Amino acid sequence: MRLVGLDQISGDETLGKAIFDIDGRKLLNAGVSLRPAIVQKLFEKGVSNVYIEDDISEGIEAESLLCEETRTQAKLIVRDEMNRLSQKKTMDYSRLNKLVNSILDEILARKIDIINVKDIRMQDEQTFAHCVNVCIMAIALATKLSLPVSKVKNIAMGAMLHDIGKAFLPPELLNKTEPLTEAEMIEMRKHPVLGYNLIKDNDETPATTKVAVLMHHEHVNGSGYPMHLTGDKIHYSARILTVCDEFDTAINDRKNNRVLRTTDAVEYLIGASGHVFDKAIVDEFIKMIPIYNEGSIVLLSNGNLAIVVKNNPVNLTRPVVRMFYNPKTRTKFNKTNIIDLRKELSIKIIREIKVNIKEIIK
Ligand SMILES: [Fe+2]
Ligand SMILES: [Fe+2]
Repeated sequence: MRLVGLDQISGDETLGKAIFDIDGRKLLNAGVSLRPAIVQKLFEKGVSNVYIEDDISEGIEAESLLCEETRTQAKLIVRDEMNRLSQKKTMDYSRLNKLVNSILDEILARKIDIINVKDIRMQDEQTFAHCVNVCIMAIALATKLSLPVSKVKNIAMGAMLHDIGKAFLPPELLNKTEPLTEAEMIEMRKHPVLGYNLIKDNDETPATTKVAVLMHHEHVNGSGYPMHLTGDKIHYSARILTVCDEFDTAINDRKNNRVLRTTDAVEYLIGASGHVFDKAIVDEFIKMIPIYNEGSIVLLSNGNLAIVVKNNPVNLTRPVVRMFYNPKTRTKFNKTNIIDLRKELSIKIIREIKVNIKEIIK
């Protein structure tokens, strides 16, 4: 199974994983043939990538950070609670707490070394999906930073709630696609305080969760908001959250056409680390972001095309790959041509290739 852009589907590929909409309704079953009419419908629904099953990706599992049921459930609960909040000014804290616990259990059971970014990218860009994505990344990152599970949980709750203050802002402002005016920016920047005010007197909410919500837009050089805090005056939990929040926004936020590729988003984090972001936290975070996702097609220095079979957490530039074709000699390889680039040092990856494989191998 591999993930491909919808624009690379030629019309008879087999869907590898079921596709659900935001309400948890199944749009398509795995195994369905992706005919042009279906592809068109998916485009209209805002789906940009799909998992397909084909010959070259046989045996490659697309491991998700969270099973589809939990993820859909999570988005629904966050959406419900944000709606309840904007209409009735209350929320069901224990429901969110239960949700965070189940996400935490699921992720910790998987012992994540690497965040499958494309798994995250596939989701829609709305606020609730964003909260779930940030929560997943924050759990993975806080665990990697060796924090005890109790702290990880409090940070995860902060991640789930970090933008909850946006429930008090007008939808026109949240959905605006053009750049915000100065006045709108001031409005938007109220959301950390609005979110904090909502939970500050709640006895069930840990202090770490509260400050994480309040400080998630602070930057270590003082350029953030609302309090312009610097360095370690920003709570550690908030410094973790900021990195996950900005990364998800960079790769998923389709507003203003500024979605970045994973590698560019990583570059952005590195470029801003030490002044916007906590350097030590960014250093750990980028170790979890694969340069080549499993199932990606790459060109090797020996001229062969290969598919990435398994990432190597110790060296993300040298995964295990399976060669399948040489475009120059037009040679197809059988499925046993697997090489571990960590051991085969004479070969390296030149670049990832984004093309319709069927057009190359005719
Ligand atoms: Fe925010
Ligand atoms: Fe956010």
